[in-house]
Amino acid sequence: MAELTAIGCGPGDPDLITLKAKKAIDAASVILCPASSEDRPSIALGIAGPLIDSSKNQRVVKLVFPMTKDPDVLAETWKKNSELMAREVLGAGRAVYLTVGDPYLYSTWMYLYKNLTETHPEIKITVIPGIVSVFMFASKVGMSLAEGAEKLTIVPSCYDLEQVRHLAKNSDTMVFLKDGKYFGKVIELLREAGYSPDSPFAIGQDLGTEREKVVKTTLGRIDTDTSSMQYFSILMVKRVQDG
Ligand SMILES: C[S@@+](CC[C@H](N)C(=O)[O-])C[C@H]1O[C@@H](n2cnc3c(N)ncnc32)[C@H](O)[C@@H]1O
Repeated sequence: MAELTAIGCGPGDPDLITLKAKKAIDAASVILCPASSEDRPSIALGIAGPLIDSSKNQRVVKLVFPMTKDPDVLAETWKKNSELMAREVLGAGRAVYLTVGDPYLYSTWMYLYKNLTETHPEIKITVIPGIVSVFMFASKVGMSLAEGAEKLTIVPSCYDLEQVRHLAKNSDTMVFLKDGKYFGKVIELLREAGYSPDSPFAIGQDLGTEREKVVKTTLGRIDTDTSSMQYFSILMVKRVQDG
């Protein structure tokens, strides 16, 4: 039976890839990975790269996922890439699909998985979890994600930010992912929602890479001009209520 293993490669540092993932990569004939365009490198492949044994001559296939919110383009892309993936898996017998962090948090994997299980039930699928960027960041800045009865909310910052007002009132810790250029607006909304200037705050970019940037401060001290921040950014805040 042809086998496909989806692998969480962790957030950036290859040393955070699990032993199980390394074994699955070694056993594969084909390594599939996502990229946002033909001429851009795959971030997931960049993370796992140092663990790939070049003497094995494994075939590496990039699946292109354009950065768009257009539902028709997305549906077409998932369909096309899951077919491409199935062809590679059935041809090779054993393949892996690399993802950043964990495959089940804001990843291309779940859409491919849905299509594949419908169209190719003959492929055996397993998933190896990876370290989520959120967990790595919490460890790095020494801020707990949730204590006791606290509630944690994870928000993708490139969608409807108006919801932040409501979510902020009902969360003790908030983590914002995706494009850092929206973080300025997020900071304003958190202040409006009653998070006090003393609220512990941290922002990070390109964690685990040579370009890594981390700032740990308080909500009152952080600069709201985040226009130069990149897509691989993360923001974490813990609530200290005003008044
Ligand atoms: C498409 S989501 C993928 C999340 C991933 N599956 C995970 O488990 O962390 C991409 C977002 O994750 C966050 N992220 C992932 N890796 C990161 C890193 N090394 N440094 C900073 N942010 C990262 C950023 O918010 C980025 O925009």
